Amino acid sequence: MERTLALIKPDAVLRNLQGEIIDMMQKNGLKIVAMKMLQLSPKQAAHFYLVHKEQPFYQNLITYMCSAPVVALVLESTNAVSAYRTLMGETNPENAKPHTIRKKYALSLRENSVHGSDSLQSAEQEISYFFSAFDII
Ligand code: CDP
Ligand code: MG
Repeated sequence: MERTLALIKPDAVLRNLQGEIIDMMQKNGLKIVAMKMLQLSPKQAAHFYLVHKEQPFYQNLITYMCSAPVVALVLESTNAVSAYRTLMGETNPENAKPHTIRKKYALSLRENSVHGSDSLQSAEQEISYFFSAFDII
């Protein structure tokens, strides 16, 4: 079993898509083992996306991530990291395959509705950024 960190991002929370996105996660075999809603501060968002600090989109990304609450979830399944990345679809929704979360809901390359860890190592780091061991079922 693997675990991965998912975020339902501000654009989706503002459109009340939490339920529909969680439904897609669960129907695709991803089990929710932790979940909470929170408002990121600019410092928290900047740290979460630190790997992108040299990118031209970094500042706008931080502003966007703090523009409304997010829902953070820990998802569990066999191969959860890649299974959930597949369900999310490509970063740019124009390139996302049909029946992916981003194809269905994303508004743009930045406002692309969901986050998912990109490796087992980043999953561990990202899960511990949002949840303590006591929060996870
Ligand atoms: O989220 P994912 O891992 O698919 O993509 P990323 O390359 O790690 O980028 C993180 C996030 O930055 C994306 O999900 C977009 O919200 C945003 N982004 C952007 O605003 N402009 C880009 N050219 C690339 C990414
Ligand atoms: Mg990424």
